[in-house]
Amino acid sequence: MFTYDPPANLLQDKIILVTGAGSGIGRAISLAYARAGATVILLGRNVERLEAVYDEIEASGGPEPAITPVDLESAGDAHYTELVNGIHQEFGRLDGLVNNAGYMGPMMPFQSITLEQWQKIMQINLGASFAMTKYCFPLLRNADRASVIFSTSTAGRQAFAYSAAYTSAKHGVEALMRVMFLELENTSAIRVNTVNPGPCATALRRSAFPNEDPSTLPQPGDLVPVYLYLMGADSLHENGKAFSAQ
Ligand SMILES: NC(=O)c1ccc[n+]([C@@H]2O[C@H](COP(=O)([O-])OP(=O)(O)OC[C@H]3O[C@@H](n4cnc5c(N)ncnc54)[C@H](OP(=O)(O)O)[C@@H]3O)[C@@H](O)[C@H]2O)c1
Repeated sequence: MFTYDPPANLLQDKIILVTGAGSGIGRAISLAYARAGATVILLGRNVERLEAVYDEIEASGGPEPAITPVDLESAGDAHYTELVNGIHQEFGRLDGLVNNAGYMGPMMPFQSITLEQWQKIMQINLGASFAMTKYCFPLLRNADRASVIFSTSTAGRQAFAYSAAYTSAKHGVEALMRVMFLELENTSAIRVNTVNPGPCATALRRSAFPNEDPSTLPQPGDLVPVYLYLMGADSLHENGKAFSAQ
């Protein structure tokens, strides 16, 4: 397990957007960032789940978060523009972005994957990570060495049978991060890194491995140290790298 002992108020006054913030790993990251002093912009599709995280942050005395419901499967130019304009008006910048929302779907042979399933998996995991980072780039550049983190997967680093779309999408996210690093490495604009969470007890994992006992897996909260490290000042030199949470 990646270990990191963050200083108090590691993320004081930071503005950080987390996608997939309503559940699983994104929820755990959002709660940890708020505990570290950040104002977290909670993005997801299910408003009730986002509101529950909002309430948890408020109840624990963290900075008031914001909620932005977006369906990353269907979002287009108008949705991203509205999102970015809203953040610009309210905060003027973004110190961090965690492209964490993901969708895996059931395991199946590639011949059985429909074009609709392929496109959904590619869009939520890869297309939305590209679009979110592209549209947020001006906001990220307004901050000092903003950090962009992509949640990938072991399936982004090696091939797994029966997950052609998810494995291709997560390999794509790793490649996208490296291209962004190459294009930006001689600037101080933003830093980009990936995190492989590893197996973890969430809805996404259950959908792919329904017979697995979730109590045998790490819990989302166990994975937050690497996400804290990569968002804070101790990791300003980390750029273009592939990290693992466990
Ligand atoms: N759990 C694991 O074992 C594991 C292993 C390796 C990598 N990962 C990666 O970790 C990340 C987080 O997944 P998780 O395990 O925490 O799963 P999760 O609990 O199912 O969370 C996935 C999140 O993605 C959001 N999302 C899915 N489709 C969306 C859409 N169309 N628009 C907006 N948001 C959408 C969901 O939001 P709503 O609830 O609002 O729909 C949800 O909050 C993913 O990128 C996943 O690939 C997980």
